[in-house]
Amino acid sequence: MIYYFSGTGNSRVAAESLAAHTGLSLDFIPHCSPYLQNAGTCRSIGFVFPVYAWGVPPIVLDFIRRLPQQMLEDLQARDIPVWAVAVCGDETGKAVEMLRKALKQRGVTLTAAWSLIMPNVYVRLPGFGVDSKETEQKKLQDAAVRLKEIARNISDCDWKFDVHEGSIPSLKTSLVYPLFRRMGVDAGRWHAEDKCTACGKCRSVCPVGNIAMRSGKPRWGSDCTSCCACFHACPVNAIQYGSVTRREGQYRLDASFFKP
Ligand SMILES: Cc1cc2nc3c(=O)[nH]c(=O)nc-3n(C[C@H](O)[C@H](O)[C@H](O)COP(=O)(O)O)c2cc1C
Repeated sequence: MIYYFSGTGNSRVAAESLAAHTGLSLDFIPHCSPYLQNAGTCRSIGFVFPVYAWGVPPIVLDFIRRLPQQMLEDLQARDIPVWAVAVCGDETGKAVEMLRKALKQRGVTLTAAWSLIMPNVYVRLPGFGVDSKETEQKKLQDAAVRLKEIARNISDCDWKFDVHEGSIPSLKTSLVYPLFRRMGVDAGRWHAEDKCTACGKCRSVCPVGNIAMRSGKPRWGSDCTSCCACFHACPVNAIQYGSVTRREGQYRLDASFFKP
């Protein structure tokens, strides 16, 4: 079983590719009730998620916190390997360590982890932004190859920790991630400019259903995960976060790199 979260689609195609190559089934974290999970006959359990602020998206940590104890005890009793793929734009920091601790608190050992570099999507802070087209294409090309390697490792039970943490990972994670969690997203800053055509694309791509259309305009609720999917998906680039995103480019995943 592979549990995944994704905003702009990178982690989704990664999870789908791993599922296709390993035969494991897939579950999208926002759509699955942790109370109904059952380790069943699965050979391994995987978590695939984007790295946020050199850490793990809160929605993934919450999911782990709510997994039923019975299922976790069953996993441990049957020695089912638990692995993770941390999908990042450049580096993971201590995200995998954060996941390892969250699992350990539930009595589960993380057996293996890999990082996967994919195009950058973070646009809510000045100084961050999408990659050049050339970098984006190179990252997708490399990611498709690496995913096959990771899938082979999983199928062969070749468990390892192969994670690109980057420089001063502990410092980055310990300083930036708590700020990211504390400050969260100011939902009131997301807005659609007048050129919005009310097509509803933003609402349909939001992974947690946080956008509603009211009087022909999208309105954001308080459950924003910061994924920026709405910003990137807008066909007329009408969605902005305050004024910081005004000059940022949009990212659209080219999934053709990951065709089996
Ligand atoms: C809120 C947020 C924070 C991010 N922080 C990091 C980071 O600390 N390090 C990094 O390499 N990439 C970071 N990224 C980039 C994403 O991890 C990367 O683009 C990922 O592929 C997005 O996955 P998705 O398309 O499945 O949502 C961040 C993206 C977002 C939206």
